[in-house]
Amino acid sequence: MLNMNLTTPFAVYVHWPFCLSKCPYCDFNSHVRHGGIDEARFLRGYETEITAMAARVPGRTVSSVFFGGGTPSLMQPSSVQAILDCIGKHWTIAADAEVTLEANPTSVEASRFLGFRAAGVNRVSLGVQALDDAALKELGRLHTAQEALDAVAVARSIFDRYSFDLIYARPRQMPEGWAAELKRAIAEAAEHLSLYQLTIEPDTPFFGLHRAGKLLVPDEDLARDLYDLTQNVCSDAGLPAYEISNHARPGAECRHNLVYWRGHDYAGVGPGAHGRLTIDGRRIATETEKRPESWLIRVEASGSGMIVDENLTSGEVADEYLLMGLRLTEGIDPERYSAISGRALNPGRISILRNEGAVETTADGRLRVTQSGFPLLDAVVADLAA
Ligand SMILES: C[S@@+](CC[C@H](N)C(=O)[O-])C[C@H]1O[C@@H](n2cnc3c(N)ncnc32)[C@H](O)[C@@H]1O
Ligand code: SF4
Repeated sequence: MLNMNLTTPFAVYVHWPFCLSKCPYCDFNSHVRHGGIDEARFLRGYETEITAMAARVPGRTVSSVFFGGGTPSLMQPSSVQAILDCIGKHWTIAADAEVTLEANPTSVEASRFLGFRAAGVNRVSLGVQALDDAALKELGRLHTAQEALDAVAVARSIFDRYSFDLIYARPRQMPEGWAAELKRAIAEAAEHLSLYQLTIEPDTPFFGLHRAGKLLVPDEDLARDLYDLTQNVCSDAGLPAYEISNHARPGAECRHNLVYWRGHDYAGVGPGAHGRLTIDGRRIATETEKRPESWLIRVEASGSGMIVDENLTSGEVADEYLLMGLRLTEGIDPERYSAISGRALNPGRISILRNEGAVETTADGRLRVTQSGFPLLDAVVADLAA
């Protein structure tokens, strides 16, 4: 029986699935609608789904809300406000709740930042991706580096907290160029940076180009050098990694994402959103219909766009705790793992991984992946979960 009391952090994820154009590397649930969308109708859909979700997990205090996408900065600030009002009507939003909105760094979107702040957003996460115009073009982005930096400046003037994303290990990228770009980014980043290695995702245009030999990305050794360089440059600048791809000044970590990685509850609303809810001691995985219009029709017909709503076994919950928790530099609590799964982690496997330098045990008994173990994270998790 899982204990998820009412004071445990509880997050709400709101997925806005529309973008102005589809980037060729991206496999997120994002769609382009040249004819526009009926935002008022979608808004009613979100309100309906939030109401249904809150009826299942009443009485929670929301510690963070995250508007992700897609491109939620394309929403009208009044829609963001209405969604937050709806969340506040059905749950209690903590006075110090973190409310993040993902934004693409164009001037059009930056012009809405004041409206988003008035709506209750207190943190923005900007998809800068690169500070190099040729790379931005290759990534299919609609903004230049200067336009992105201008949007960062607007964000800085409006929000106390902001972060931005960069993608590295891009085609032809070499360590010297990346180090210079990263240092330039750090000069602009107040407290938080998300630094993702380019992943060639199946069913994207980049996948086809890569397979045809027309998109050459760094090999494993170069990618490893770029990763190590990233860790060193960020640590030296006071932005150590707290998760495999996320760096923050101590205390400025994204509280919303920590909810996922620490295995707490979150409600996922909107097309293709995932959630994890603890109800009557059982951990439930939820997932909504991905296609925006089909999601809307389902919500209008039945009050919810949910297509997956299933109890997880204790083994599945424990595996998720490992998978998510070991992404964090703070690692996991082996006792919590044992309490969830009913069995301890295999000491023999831990000792082999420790001898290989991939994991370590902290003074307070937590198990964590070392910096040199992080590039092998998937293998480490698979080994411990086996
Ligand atoms: C939901 S997406 C983007 C939010 C926003 N629409 C944007 O593009 O700025 C979140 C982040 O995932 C990262 N990302 C998406 N696809 C990726 C890929 N194939 N490899 C590495 N990072 C990726 C990008 O850095 C992106 O900013
Ligand atoms: S990277 Fe962002 S803007 Fe580009 S398609 Fe994906 S969600 Fe949309």
